[in-house]
Amino acid sequence: MIGIMGAMPEEVNNLLDQLKDVKSTTIGMRTYYEGVLFAKPAVIVFSRWGKVAAATTVSTLLLKFKVTELIFTGVAGAINHTLKVGDVVISDKLFQHDMDARPLMAQYEIPLLNKLFFETEQEKQEEAKAAAERFLKNIKKTISSEDLEEFRIKSPRVIIGNIASGDRFIASNTDKNIIEEGLPNIACVEMEGAAVAQVCYEFGIPFTIIRTISDAADTQSDMDFTKFIASIASNYSEGIIRELFEH
Ligand code: ADE
Repeated sequence: MIGIMGAMPEEVNNLLDQLKDVKSTTIGMRTYYEGVLFAKPAVIVFSRWGKVAAATTVSTLLLKFKVTELIFTGVAGAINHTLKVGDVVISDKLFQHDMDARPLMAQYEIPLLNKLFFETEQEKQEEAKAAAERFLKNIKKTISSEDLEEFRIKSPRVIIGNIASGDRFIASNTDKNIIEEGLPNIACVEMEGAAVAQVCYEFGIPFTIIRTISDAADTQSDMDFTKFIASIASNYSEGIIRELFEH
């Protein structure tokens, strides 16, 4: 059983429309939808925002639904200046940019795990990258030319990159710079991935975080994020996971 999570309904709605033989269960203020997705058994849920919401949702997926693999799909703010809205980041290393137990431990160190980051298995990274590339190659089939134009999506690309997660929406160059200078080679910032990664690491199951860039994590980010989420985030989630499952 594969668990698929997003932090917002808009990140998983299109996938839910594709789920067959659906059975829904509500636990702890979240509704879990079990069924068959592109011929594979899956359970889909939206967790709400932030590390705590994500971590408790992953725990439920593991303990109640016995998932053996986890995929998170959603949006992120770009930290890497070459990334544009509509590009896709597949997780390599995941850091918690707001973890700071100094002077007891090094900044960013995850207490008592002796780790600075969690890493996605290389095979999972490559499979997800290939799926996202297939989706982007045919993006015009799922996203209208008006939408592509509005978001200035011309030749979107996929990278495997490091992700910084924390309980903050990043909306200024000052905050971007702090993340960029403190952590190595960060591609994008979001609010759940490294929490999901920590729980999966602790339970010993593979995970992949797939993030589409919705904004540049700058003073425009709230507006860009809201527009992207409202119109095309769900197309990306559906398209990439369809490619991943059907291939
Ligand atoms: N998710 C999407 N954009 C984000 C941002 N700018 N900061 C944090 N999480 C995000």
